[in-house]
Amino acid sequence: MTVHSFERAFLILSGTLLVACLGALLYASTTRQIHLPGHAGTVDPAQVMVTPPFDQPGVREVGPNRYEAVVVARTWNFLPNEIRVPAGAEITFIVTSADVIHGFEVARTRINAMVIPGQITRLTYTFRERGEYLLVCHEYCGVGHHTMGGKVVVE
Ligand code: CUA
Repeated sequence: MTVHSFERAFLILSGTLLVACLGALLYASTTRQIHLPGHAGTVDPAQVMVTPPFDQPGVREVGPNRYEAVVVARTWNFLPNEIRVPAGAEITFIVTSADVIHGFEVARTRINAMVIPGQITRLTYTFRERGEYLLVCHEYCGVGHHTMGGKVVVE
């Protein structure tokens, strides 16, 4: 069987791209700790505000230099809408929605997740630099979507 030289070049290029993309994926997930937010259980959307830990949204220390930030997204705000965390600490965000699909994105970080009613989203991040980070809902969630935001204050 003869393979035309253009075809061979195309095959080599395609194969190289596949290997490069797989390599980038492995590098991101193992070395840089970049991965999809974990699915951390379910919760009845109608009972979010009375179901632990969402009945007490906010930041709490859970270990040496480790914190949990429990956040409820609902039309059209985050509860709490100001999250204060220390720089250099490992922060685990535990987020759910009390109504419709929202987004949870912290600008200038890799924090970017969908917040789905009935599901709990969990993701971990360490803020290295102090400052204020914009928290936005980046999934269209109704007429007040553009007003749905907050901030993360790293101190
Ligand atoms: Cu919540 Cu857009």
